[in-house]
Amino acid sequence: MSAANLILVGVALVAIAAAAAAFAIAYRRSTDWRKGVSSETLAADRSEVPEAFVAATESAGEQAAEEGGEATSEPPVATAVEVVSEPVVVEVTPEEAGVTRRQFFNRALGATFGTFLAGFGLASLSFLWPKLTGGFGSDVNAGKVDELREQLFNEDGSVTPLFIPEARAYLVPYDENALSPQFRDLGVADRGVMALWQRCVHLGCRVPWCQPSQGFECPCHGSKYSLVGEYFAGPAPRNLDRFVIDFTPADDLIIKTGSIVQTPRAPILTVKYPQGPSCIAAGGGA
Ligand code: FES
Repeated sequence: MSAANLILVGVALVAIAAAAAAFAIAYRRSTDWRKGVSSETLAADRSEVPEAFVAATESAGEQAAEEGGEATSEPPVATAVEVVSEPVVVEVTPEEAGVTRRQFFNRALGATFGTFLAGFGLASLSFLWPKLTGGFGSDVNAGKVDELREQLFNEDGSVTPLFIPEARAYLVPYDENALSPQFRDLGVADRGVMALWQRCVHLGCRVPWCQPSQGFECPCHGSKYSLVGEYFAGPAPRNLDRFVIDFTPADDLIIKTGSIVQTPRAPILTVKYPQGPSCIAAGGGA
């Protein structure tokens, strides 16, 4: 599952938890609150008109009727009725008291926050975890190696590297007989191709290909590299980095973008550079 999908799942879980909390609150408000409390709590309730007051009021009305007063439709007015009630203190256990509103809100808030944290953690883990299939950081299938190699050469004998976007790599040809010793036995060159990382080893700019000079020239600070990524000039501390490559039984080229190989500045260039005018100003960017 991708990081974006996990983020969506996390947001959905948070939304579901919030909706559940809102529904629970609405349900509790829409139902008779007496159903959820203990008998002791009901006995201690003072929200109703006391029965003593009602009885006293009715008694006063009856007495007035007996003393010759005319019966009226108006309710008798009780006077000087004093209702004395002793404060009742009922000890209840937490289980008998049930969940208070404060506790409910605290738990709902904790559950929502916990869900959010879990979603965020999963998304972060997914982002940091090495990708096992597809995309940069994994093995990228670039296609049939023979067909790829043919695309690298122009009719006039010049070379145009093939850019593989998913691998962020330039595919370049190399001469088996002229392969520099510093690239041997590293798994980076086979069947006439190498895969160079597009990233400049100085400060990370993308290094474009310069067709006239037949090399890679960084527009940021002027580092220059040969066709096979050998250091030529500029502030770059080493050659262009390259990836380990492999092949499937069907001769598909696999670029292992999780396996990056660094090599020091080339002592000598095994490929002539420059072979024509440079694409950037001498000693610096374009
Ligand atoms: S980033 Fe390429 S030369 Fe500085």
